[in-house]
Amino acid sequence: MKKLLFGAFALSMLAACNAGEDHLLNQEQTDDLTSGSSVTQRVCPSEDIRKEALANNPDLMARFVDNESKTEKFIDDLKMGRVLADGTVEIPVVVNVLYRTAAENISDAQIASQIATLNNDFGGTNSDVNKIPSEFASVAAGDTKIKFRLDRVIRKSTTVRSWRTNDAMKKTSSKGQDAFKPANYFNIWVVGDMGGVLGYATFPESAGLWNDGVVIAGKYFGTTANAPYNLGRTATHEVGHYLNLRHIWGDGNCATDYVDDTPTQQDKNFGKPTYPQYDLCGGVNRSIQFMNYMDYVDDAAMYMFSAGQKSRMQAITNASGARSGLRIY
Ligand code: ARG
Ligand code: ZN
Ligand code: CA
Repeated sequence: MKKLLFGAFALSMLAACNAGEDHLLNQEQTDDLTSGSSVTQRVCPSEDIRKEALANNPDLMARFVDNESKTEKFIDDLKMGRVLADGTVEIPVVVNVLYRTAAENISDAQIASQIATLNNDFGGTNSDVNKIPSEFASVAAGDTKIKFRLDRVIRKSTTVRSWRTNDAMKKTSSKGQDAFKPANYFNIWVVGDMGGVLGYATFPESAGLWNDGVVIAGKYFGTTANAPYNLGRTATHEVGHYLNLRHIWGDGNCATDYVDDTPTQQDKNFGKPTYPQYDLCGGVNRSIQFMNYMDYVDDAAMYMFSAGQKSRMQAITNASGARSGLRIY
C-alpha cells in the first residue's frame, strides 16, 4: 500500500519536474536579459536525463521508488523520535510472563533489572567493563547505540510445569501467549522452567513471524540469586542472536562467526576462564575472546561485545535492515 502510494507520488513528482524545467528556462532567459552579458549559465542535466530514463525503464523506476521509500523511512524514524539524533535505536520491549507458581510470576522490579542490564551491556556502561583485557579494549564495542525500553508486561497463568524449546509458550493455543505485534515489538517470554536450557532466540530471518523473539527461564531473568547465571546475561546473549550475532566459536571447530575482531576459537568456553587462553586454529595460536557475551562462560565472566559485532547489530536494526520495524511509536 505504501509502495503504491509512493509510486503515485513518484509520477506526480515527475510532472512537477516538468513545470520546474519551464520555470528554470524562463529564469535563464530573464537573467540573460537583465545582465545584458553573454555569460553562459550553468546547467546540470542530471534530472532531465534521469526523468527520461525513469519514464522508459520500469526496473529503474522501481529502484528509484525503493530508494526513496527507504530514505523516507529513515528520516521519518528520526523525526518521530524512533531513532535518537545520534543514531541510537530504541527497541520497544514486551515481556510475556507465563507462570504456574507465584514465584514464577516475577516482579516488576526483576523485569526492570533485566532491562537495565540490557541497556548497560549494549551501552558499554556495564560495571565490569574495566575487566576487558587491554588486548581487546581496542576492539570493544563500547556503546552499540541500541537501547531497550519496556513497553508493556503481559502476565498469564498457565498449568504448564516445564517448557521445551518447541515454541509452545509463544501460542495461546498451546497454553502460552501469542506474540504482541512481533514486527514492531521485541517479545520476550519468561517461563518458569525449561530444564537445562537458560534461554533461546530467533534470528533476524524470523523478523515479525509469530514465533519471533527470545525465551528466558525466569530464574535467570534479570538480577537474581541464581549464580552463576545471576546477572541477566542470558538475555544479553540471546538478544545478541536476535540481532544477528552467532556464537563466537561459529558453532564448529575453528568455525566463523562472520566477525573479524573476534579471534577464531576452537570451541565454546564455560565457567570463569583466566586470561589469557590460547586456541590453535589453522596453524595459528590465538588469544581468544572468551569474555564475549556470545561465548558460554558464566555471567560474571562475560562483559563485552566487539566493534565487529556492533556493526552486524546496527546493520540489522537500521532503516533497511530486517529488524527496522523495531521502533518506539
Ligand atoms: N542458550 C544458552 C543456554 O541456555 C545461553 C547461555 C548464556 N550464558 C550465560 N552465562 N548466561 O545455555
Ligand atoms: Zn546462544
Ligand atoms: Ca571471528
